[in-house]
Amino acid sequence: MKMFCAGHWQESSKTIDVINPFDQSVIDTIPQGSGDDVLKAVSVLEQGARIMKSMTAYDRSLILQKASELMLERKDDFARTISLEEGKILAESQVEATRSAEVIRLSGEEARRMTGEMIPLEGNAGGQNKLGFTLRIPCGIVAAITPFNFPLNLVCHKVGPAIAAGNAILIKPASDTPLSALKLTELLLEAGLPKEAIACITGPGGEIGRAICTDTRIRKISFTGSYEVGTKICEMAGLKKVTMELGSNSPVIIMDDADLEKAATAVSMAGYANAGQVCISAQRILTSSAIKSDFVDLLKSKVDVLHTGNQLEETTKIGPMVRETDATRVEQWVNEAVSQGARLVTGGTRQGAIYAPTILDNTNPEMQVEKDEIFGPAVALSYFDDIEHAIQMANNTNYGLSAGIFTQDLDRAMKFAREVESGNLHINWSSQWRADAMPYGGLKHSGTGKEGPKYAIQEMSEEKMVVIHLTN
Ligand code: SIN
Repeated sequence: MKMFCAGHWQESSKTIDVINPFDQSVIDTIPQGSGDDVLKAVSVLEQGARIMKSMTAYDRSLILQKASELMLERKDDFARTISLEEGKILAESQVEATRSAEVIRLSGEEARRMTGEMIPLEGNAGGQNKLGFTLRIPCGIVAAITPFNFPLNLVCHKVGPAIAAGNAILIKPASDTPLSALKLTELLLEAGLPKEAIACITGPGGEIGRAICTDTRIRKISFTGSYEVGTKICEMAGLKKVTMELGSNSPVIIMDDADLEKAATAVSMAGYANAGQVCISAQRILTSSAIKSDFVDLLKSKVDVLHTGNQLEETTKIGPMVRETDATRVEQWVNEAVSQGARLVTGGTRQGAIYAPTILDNTNPEMQVEKDEIFGPAVALSYFDDIEHAIQMANNTNYGLSAGIFTQDLDRAMKFAREVESGNLHINWSSQWRADAMPYGGLKHSGTGKEGPKYAIQEMSEEKMVVIHLTN
């Protein structure tokens, strides 16, 4: 595919292969964009930002509504593209494509609700005869730097709100999975988005990313990815607004009064969906010592039936990871944990980019499988004595994106909700649950700012304060 830069589809003298991680076959090639391409794109996006700003919210919402309809019509094609480039099983890609259409639709609805607020100045000393209100205006040009793991929906979570708020948008998709974003760009143009208002520049992050971060004409960066890259972006971004959706090593607490069947089912989904490559995957399974062997046996019985293989085959429950190097990294972390005393309950094997669903028991916070974000199909079980201990273990991390607890006790559940340092908290479900409309974002090293169309629109717009000074 070509990339969309400066108002037209463009090739480049250098190209990059897009690879199916299951068999390493080349599914397409894309241009290797450059920092110069960013400069060219931004010059045209400046015009696009002016066009978008002058468009009514109603017209922007119509574009998004049309785009959502087109996406649903092409759902199967999008799903196949996601699976081919990312390795996600088809059933999960279908869900991603449907969610993406919903995110675009919600963004269109929120565009119509974008509003400022009345400020009661008369309540301030000296505020007599003053009428105050705020106006929301677009930032101008928003850049979306997006990850490989949801190559369509996490692009929609940035592009939908950016358009809804009246911005022009520059997309830099993950270099492993650019095709879904390019197809989305095509679709948005077809839905009526002005060609000056969007660019999608493909290629490796370094040079393109630096050009995005240092270009002062770009007013806002929304990034999803690792803490390390997010921190570098923030250092380079200067005074730009930023939203950072970073990683996590999410805890799920299983109390002694938990519905074990429900908890094991939830963990067997949340630890392994998309081969564990989800920011809110269940990673640290903190279990009451009172139910230790019951829970491990139950979880093992559910994980052992997760069939690995070709992501396009219906029987496959876990496809390949996005790159073989990611699978070898998971393999190293698991082997290291075992050499440090963890027990391998199941899994622990690799075939190319496919890593078998793995359970590690008796892990501790010094092991990388607990300390860092594993982003692969492996969970680490460790044990606590009471709720205080469980909460202390849950918080013993730099991350804080999502967490879950299983218990029948409302007091324990609310203690968890109040005391666990996390942006999202789930009672009687695992960390891995998201409705696209809800506010979504992390604490600590998991990031700053919120997504979810209503909240992202706030982050992709500026607030102006207007005061009318009445004479009486
Ligand atoms: C993520 O991995 O950050 C997103 C998870 C989701 O949207 O389900």
